[in-house]
Amino acid sequence: MTILYHENSKVFHLYNDTISYVMMILKNGHLGQLYYGKRIRDREDFSYFLETCERPMTARVFEEDDAFSLEHIRQEYPVFGTTDFRQPAVEVLQENGSRISDFVYQSHSVKGGKPKLSGLPATYTEADEEAETLTVTLRDALTGMEIELLYTIFAEGGILARSARFLNSGEQTLRLTRAMSLSLDLPDRDYVWQQLSGCWARECHVHSRKLEPGIQAIGSMRGNSSHEHNPFLVLRRPHANERQGEVIGLSLIYSGNFRIQAEVDAHDTLRVLAGIDPETFTWRLDPGESFQTPEAVLVYTDQGLNHMSQTFHKLYQRRLARGYWRDRVRPILNNNWEATYFDFTEERLLAIAAKAKECGVELFVLDDGWFGERSSDHAGLGDWVANRRRLPEGIAGLADRVEELGMKLGLWFEPEMVNKDSDFYRQHPDWILGTPGRSQSQGRHQYVLDFSRKEVVDAIYEQMAEILRKAKLSYIKWDMNRSITECFSGGWPADRQGEIYHRYILGVYDLYERLTSEFPKVLFESCASGGGRFDPGMLYYAPQGWLSDDSDAVERLKIQYGASMCYPISSMGAHVSAVPNHQVYRNTPLHTRANVACFGTFGYELDLNKLTEEETEEVKEQIAFMKKYRQILQFGTFYRLKSPFEGNETAWMVVSEDQKTALVGWYRILNDINGRYTRLRLEGLHPAYAYRNQKSGLVHYGDELMYAGLITTDDTAGQAPAEAKHSTDFESGIYILEAIPSV
Ligand code: DGJ
Repeated sequence: MTILYHENSKVFHLYNDTISYVMMILKNGHLGQLYYGKRIRDREDFSYFLETCERPMTARVFEEDDAFSLEHIRQEYPVFGTTDFRQPAVEVLQENGSRISDFVYQSHSVKGGKPKLSGLPATYTEADEEAETLTVTLRDALTGMEIELLYTIFAEGGILARSARFLNSGEQTLRLTRAMSLSLDLPDRDYVWQQLSGCWARECHVHSRKLEPGIQAIGSMRGNSSHEHNPFLVLRRPHANERQGEVIGLSLIYSGNFRIQAEVDAHDTLRVLAGIDPETFTWRLDPGESFQTPEAVLVYTDQGLNHMSQTFHKLYQRRLARGYWRDRVRPILNNNWEATYFDFTEERLLAIAAKAKECGVELFVLDDGWFGERSSDHAGLGDWVANRRRLPEGIAGLADRVEELGMKLGLWFEPEMVNKDSDFYRQHPDWILGTPGRSQSQGRHQYVLDFSRKEVVDAIYEQMAEILRKAKLSYIKWDMNRSITECFSGGWPADRQGEIYHRYILGVYDLYERLTSEFPKVLFESCASGGGRFDPGMLYYAPQGWLSDDSDAVERLKIQYGASMCYPISSMGAHVSAVPNHQVYRNTPLHTRANVACFGTFGYELDLNKLTEEETEEVKEQIAFMKKYRQILQFGTFYRLKSPFEGNETAWMVVSEDQKTALVGWYRILNDINGRYTRLRLEGLHPAYAYRNQKSGLVHYGDELMYAGLITTDDTAGQAPAEAKHSTDFESGIYILEAIPSV
């Protein structure tokens, strides 16, 4: 990759093998956007990309130039209030009440690698050759506000990471009322907007629409990135699909309130903004203080959605997730939540764990209910001390007994919350978020601790660290089960209340940072009532997340398919649960539940003692299969083949790095009678390798499987002879394809 600055034309050109990103210093000193897309050859001067013309009813910057209006110029980090009437990237409130700024180029520098963003999760490099970072400094002369725009281009893939850092180098107190991570002006609006939206238990559904004039937006004002909208956007050309075509993916590495929007103006140009939600944000910057925005990552490809996703998967697996578990296959776990809910004793837990061990499970996870006076969701949050009536020897004792069984122990926490019925709340009633003189709303009978205050984070850290220091724990599930309301902190003055949502999430990141540093071998799984905070910010600390509280295999197809647009399989917590399913009361076959969950971190969310002998044997086989193939399932190259949003069948596959093994997941919702002949055109295989299909025993070359297709016609469906094994609704299969020496 290269970052060039052409002095004469004042043009920056950032490029690698895949992309070019071209900007220039405009006549008024602002930074203009010239081109973003497929790699183009470098030239000394690209300034002809800057199209300006004289238009009626336009305000102009210069007396003598009727064509230079910011309204019609594509910019890098625009302001509002001079001649641009679109939504801006930044707004600074000044002591005299003015919000007008004029950010003019000062200097720039280029460095190998990528700097850390203070206090915030972000992508990183391990060697300077992996990326280059351009920092462009702009300055508003009147106020002294400086902005450093950071652009990191990675050597591999069409990846560009962006963020902005503000420094008040003036003498007055300034207030940021908007500080987006990224603004991207594109020359046309010929895109389909694609978002991942839903709600609790129905996260990450794919929704698409053509861009129209005006503003289209997603975001969250809940304090968490939310079940409703994932901080992720795809803009794809209308003809682009999974296999081909131009696609831009935009992912915000942030877990709090956010906004991503696209504004199409009257001339069909497009402005994309992404960052902290401006509605719920202000930030006071006293002289000398600085503010760093979260990072936004852009991925461009002209090879379709699968390629965009694969680029995100590899980046987020290797250069966003960190630590001991980053590259390791994930332990197969048994979580007791849907097995017992709050109704357990140590003996009951150990009976579940013993059976799990017999089946091959590696990690037993004790979920909610082990602490304080927690026998329902009305009490106990905040008291992170084992309830001795349930666990006579505490967590340390339980961990010893689980280890004696030959397994590891994991534990659930909800660090950010408190019940009023808890010793913690009784000691610190003023440590929750809430507006003075007004009632606080509850959610699941709990209140949100004020994580904007260091002393609150310290107190929770001490309780958690105490447990982790004493007990042999290998895994923590970090839950968060309500959104923030009445956001007000008793720890901050009136004119800093607009900072609390962001300070809260910084407190969450701080606690994660401290715990993951002190206990580097503990595997963290994030959770927020399932996927309420399944976002890249969390991935930095917790390499996997509980994707949804909906554990039904059919519902999960849509959720996992949608999430795979951005997130790697190794990040998706997915479990086999009991039937009838506890969320939708559906009965699905045991093999289908496992066939969906194995495209995830894989585990069980039930009491295996309740299965029949035949089912237990099946579970043992599932676990053996997962152990054999999880390296490929979790870290191979993932392809979506058939969308659950478009028909009765879903299919996806992973291919090993050496292309010698592929696993194809095929799922049919309702059974067919006398149905069609079906085949799946596979992807990512080596055309010349011969693959044995373990199901049929037949051997096919990669080119046959990719171009003619894998035959999936299910001849037991409906028309099968009476003695054959019959398919049911919710049928599925995993096709294992292994390369063999040529035939
Ligand atoms: C919500 C989580 O998503 C569930 O998996 C479980 O941990 C419960 N909270 C426990 O209260």
